[in-house]
Amino acid sequence: MDKEQEIIGLLKTYNQEHIINLLHKLENNEKQDLIKQIEQIDFHQISELYENTKKELEINENKIEKINYIDKQKLNSKELEELENIGDEVLKHGEYAVVTMAGGQGTRLGHTGPKGTFKLDVYGKGKYLFEILVDNLKEANEKYQKVIPWYIMTSKENYEETKNFLNKHHYFGYPQKSVTLFIQGDLPLVDTEGKLLIGKDKKIKEASNGNGGVFYSLRESGILADMKNRNVKWIFIGSVDNAILKMADTSLLGLAIKQNVEIASKSVVKANPKERVGVFCKMNGHPKVIEYTELPEEMAEEKDENGELKYGESHIMCNLFSIDAIEKISKEPLIYHSAFKKNSYINEEGKEIIPKEPNSYKFEAFIFDCFPFFDDMAIIRGKREDDFAPVKNKEGVDSPRTAKELYEKYWERQKRKQGGNN
Ligand code: UTP
Repeated sequence: MDKEQEIIGLLKTYNQEHIINLLHKLENNEKQDLIKQIEQIDFHQISELYENTKKELEINENKIEKINYIDKQKLNSKELEELENIGDEVLKHGEYAVVTMAGGQGTRLGHTGPKGTFKLDVYGKGKYLFEILVDNLKEANEKYQKVIPWYIMTSKENYEETKNFLNKHHYFGYPQKSVTLFIQGDLPLVDTEGKLLIGKDKKIKEASNGNGGVFYSLRESGILADMKNRNVKWIFIGSVDNAILKMADTSLLGLAIKQNVEIASKSVVKANPKERVGVFCKMNGHPKVIEYTELPEEMAEEKDENGELKYGESHIMCNLFSIDAIEKISKEPLIYHSAFKKNSYINEEGKEIIPKEPNSYKFEAFIFDCFPFFDDMAIIRGKREDDFAPVKNKEGVDSPRTAKELYEKYWERQKRKQGGNN
C-alpha cells in the first residue's frame, strides 16, 4: 500500500473524511505537505482528548484540603527583609532567569497578533505589554547590576511576528544577547464533532498545546542546557498579560529557599467565590490548582476559621521553579484540558468561516498541573492592586480598561512612596 492509501485508511478510521476530500483536491506539493503533517499527528491521542470533552469532571471533595500560605502584608519589616535578603543573593550572583509564556492565542482579547504586541493605553502614549515586561526586568537588572537572561516562549504560529516585533522595537532596550525566543509544541484543533479544523493554508489547523508545554519545550529547545551553562539556579515563569507582574520578587524567592522547596507561587485573594480563576489547595497531600470550572459551587463558597474563603488563594501565573524542578517536570506528561474557543476554518466548499461564538476545542496542558509532582510548595499571598492587572477580555473585567487603571494607580502609588522616601 502506498503512503497516500495508508493515510486515507488512517483518516477513515478516525472519521476525518473531510481531510480525505481535501487531499483529493490538492495539487501535488500541497498534498505532500499535508501528508507530512498528517504523519506527525497522533490521531489516537486527539480522538481520546475529544472524547474526554464529553465527560463530566469529578472532584473527590474528601481528599481536598486548604493549602498553607504566607501573607506578605502580615510580615513585619524584619521578616520581609529576611526573605528579601535571601532572594537578593541569588540575583546578585546572576543565578536567576525569567521565562515569559507568550504562546497563547489571546482569543478573548481579540487582538490580531501576539498578545505581547498589544498596546495598553497607559499615560496617553501607551505601552506594549512586552515593553512593560522589559521595564520590570530592567529595574531588577539595575538593582542587582546583572542582566537577567530572558526567555520568551512563543507558539509556532506567532514566533515570526513576535521576533519581528521585538527586533523592530530593538527589544525595548533590553540587551539582545540576553533574550532568547523558543517555540512550544502544538496540537490540532477539533470541532464539536471531533473533526480536525482546516486552515486557510490548506493544512490541519494546530494551536499551541497550553502553557504547561513550557517545561518540555524548555528542555527540547536546549534552553534548559543554556540555563545550566549560565549557572542559573532559579527560574521565574510568568505570563505575558499581567501589566504589573513582578518577575524578580525576592520575597517569593526567599520564601522558597527558606522553606526548602523547589517550587513557589504568588497568589492573590480571590475577589469573590465566582471569580474565574484557579485556586490553590492540597489534593491527596500534594499542592494543586483547581480551575474555576472544576471547583464545585459549595467548595467555592466555603469559609475557613478566619471567615476567609477556604479555597481563596488564586493562581496568577506567577511561578518560580528551581532548575532541578524544571528538569524533573520536563520529563513528566502533564494532562490536557480542553478549552472551547473561537477558531476560523475552511469549510468543505473552501470558504473561510470566522465564527462569532466558540466552535472548537483547543487542548492545553496547564502550567499548574506540574504542582502535584511535588510534595510541597511555598505560596506567598501578594496584594491584588500591586500584583495582578490581567489583560484577558476585550472589555469588562480583566480587560485593557481595568489593567490600565490598575497600572496607572500602581505607578502613582510608587511615585508617592518614592517622594515620601526622598
Ligand atoms: P491564557 O490561558 O489566559 O490564554 O494564557 P491566552 O492565549 O492568553 O488567552 P485566550 O484564553 O485565548 O483568550 C495565560 C498565559 O499563558 C500563555 C499566554 O500567552 C499567557 O501568557 N500561553 C497560553 C502560552 O504561552 N501558551 C499556550 O498554549 C497558552
